[in-house]
Amino acid sequence: MSRATREEDLDTRIDLLRERIKDSDDLKVKGDVFDTRTLMNLYALASKGVIDALGGEISTGKEANLFYAIREGQELVIKIYRITTSNFQAMQDYMHGDPRFGNIKGTKRAVISAWTRKEFRNLKRAEEAGVRVPHPIVTRDNILIMELIGEKDNPAPQLRNVDLELDEAKRIFNKLSDYISLLYNKADLVHADFSEFNVLYDGDPVVIDMGQSVTLEHPMASKFLARDVTNIARYFEKKYGIGSEEEIWSKVKVQ
Ligand SMILES: Nc1ncnc2c1ncn2[C@@H]1O[C@H](COP(=O)(O)OP(=O)(O)OP(=O)(O)O)[C@@H](O)[C@H]1O
Ligand SMILES: [Mg+2]
Repeated sequence: MSRATREEDLDTRIDLLRERIKDSDDLKVKGDVFDTRTLMNLYALASKGVIDALGGEISTGKEANLFYAIREGQELVIKIYRITTSNFQAMQDYMHGDPRFGNIKGTKRAVISAWTRKEFRNLKRAEEAGVRVPHPIVTRDNILIMELIGEKDNPAPQLRNVDLELDEAKRIFNKLSDYISLLYNKADLVHADFSEFNVLYDGDPVVIDMGQSVTLEHPMASKFLARDVTNIARYFEKKYGIGSEEEIWSKVKVQ
C-alpha cells in the first residue's frame, strides 16, 4: 500500500469510527465516558489499526463502560474507565502495597491510567498462569482493549445467569477452585472480586474484571483471598448444593 493510500485508508477508518460514535444513541449521551481525551485516544487506536470500528454498548459498570469493537473481523471489547465517576480513593487503596503501582500519585487521570494498566497486567499474568481470561490486547490511558467472550450479538452470560446441570456445575466449581489456586500459587495474585458476577460462561468459565486484583505483597491479600473463597463456595452451595470452602482451600497452598 502506498503512503497516500494508507493515509486515505486511515482517514476513512477514523471517519467511520467517528460516524459510529455520532450515530449511536448509546454513545451520544455518554459525555462522561467520551470526553475529548478519550475520543482522541480512540482515534489514535484506530489510526494505529488496533480497532477498525466501534459498536454499541455491552455494559455500564460501576467504574467503566464496555463497548464492542471490531478489528479485521475479530470481535473485541473496549473497556473505558470513567474519569469523573470512578472511585479514585478505592483505586489508590488497591494499588497501595503493589510494588508495580505503589508509587502512583497525582491526578485522577494518572491514577485511573495506572489502574487500567494494572488490569491489563493482571489479565496477562493470569493468562500466563493458565487461567482463562479475555486475552488483553492493549491499553491507552483509561482504555483497555481485550478479546470478546461470546459473540457480538450474543456475549457470554455471567455465571449467575446460567443454570448448569449438576455434573457441569461440579466441573465448573472444580475449575474455578483450580483458578483461585493458579492465581495465588502461580501468578502471585488474588482476584479480590471473584464471584458469579465476574465469571462468564461460554461452555467453560472465563474470569473477568481484574482491575482490583492484587499481588501477594498487598497488606489485604490474604483477607481478599478468604473472601474470594467464601464467595465462590457460597454460590455453588446455595445454588447447586455442592462444593465447600474446604475443597477450595485444599487446592491453595497458603504461604
Ligand atoms: N471480554 C468480555 N467479553 C464479553 N463480555 C464482557 C467482557 N468483559 C466484560 N464483559 C461484560 O461486561 C460486564 C462488566 O464488565 P466488568 O465486570 O469488567 O466491569 P465493571 O466496571 O467492573 O462492571 P461491574 O461494576 O458491573 O462489575 C461483565 O459483567 C460482562 O457481562
Ligand atoms: Mg464486574
